Amino acid sequence: MAKAVKTIGVLTSGGDAPGMNAAIRAVVRTAINKGLKVKGIMRGYAGLLEEEIVDMESTSVSDIINRGGTILYTARCKEFTTAEGQQKGADICRKHGIDGMVVIGGDGSFRGAGKLSSLGINTIGLPGTIDLDIACTDYTIGFDTAVNTAMEAIDKIHERCSIVEVMGRNAGYIALWCGIGNGAEDILLPERYDGNEQALINRIIDNRRRGKKHNIIINAEGIGHSGSMAKRIEAATGIETRATILGHMQRGGTPTCKDRVYASIMGAKAAELLAAGKSNRLVAYKHGEFVDFDIQEALNMTKDIPEEQYEIAKMLIR
Ligand code: ADP
Ligand code: F6P
Repeated sequence: MAKAVKTIGVLTSGGDAPGMNAAIRAVVRTAINKGLKVKGIMRGYAGLLEEEIVDMESTSVSDIINRGGTILYTARCKEFTTAEGQQKGADICRKHGIDGMVVIGGDGSFRGAGKLSSLGINTIGLPGTIDLDIACTDYTIGFDTAVNTAMEAIDKIHERCSIVEVMGRNAGYIALWCGIGNGAEDILLPERYDGNEQALINRIIDNRRRGKKHNIIINAEGIGHSGSMAKRIEAATGIETRATILGHMQRGGTPTCKDRVYASIMGAKAAELLAAGKSNRLVAYKHGEFVDFDIQEALNMTKDIPEEQYEIAKMLIR
């Protein structure tokens, strides 16, 4: 049943992602426009349990839409994965008059959001991760900036054979997009790579025979081992091969327009859902529309690399 809320909290959790600030800004201003009070929780669930809670006004979120990272900071918090930690979190919310919460993060953060919701704090999740690995949504806050950052870095690599490792945890979305966007010679995705390194070496030798001066292989973090892979490739082909691990630079930088706009819409929608008395929902972007799902249903969904995109990527290589 819908329950009216008066004061909402907002927190960012898990890995930070560009665009989170735009989402925070939209949550704060939408809620204030609807007559609600807003409190910011610093450092995710860790800050909640430490009661690092600040009042937020409309001006608290001025000049942040263009900034990477998150003004609320983010953290991982083991204590919140326990029933005691979750109960403590809900009690602290009540102590501070917080009866609604927006959690911006990934799947782990949403498990926590589901728990808060079941403990009586109306909670809405927003997908914030560069990895795009949240099943219920075709878009996650930060992915667009991350792939553009990685793409620009990869553009700077020329000549010789390069293995470029991109982030994504166990998912290959960043690798697939950079593979297509950078016109890479090979794309290794955790969802598809069969470990056949000899076939990879054969393709590199064939590329060199066909006159290609450089050979860029995008390797997803979920496969890893880029350094040792480079050594084996160099030994087998005689072609100088280097590994570049792009790392945390992919999580930083100025958010793209898409991340700012989509995060703003999602943030506004989260505050609207809370103002309408909703709880345990996850805001998503599906088939071109902003929608929301039950958190548990969303967590049970699965998704895979779009086969068509992968096939096109492979076809465009030759
Ligand atoms: P992400 O949200 O990006 O997937 P994590 O998996 O690290 O990142 O989760 C972020 C935080 O969410 C964790 O540090 C923890 O505090 C909380 N969390 C993760 N899993 C659970 C769970 N099963 N129950 C409650 N809280 C959880
Ligand atoms: O989820 C975002 C992400 O950057 C992943 O791509 C990566 O696997 C992970 O976080 C790294 O986490 P940490 O910064 O805690 O090492």
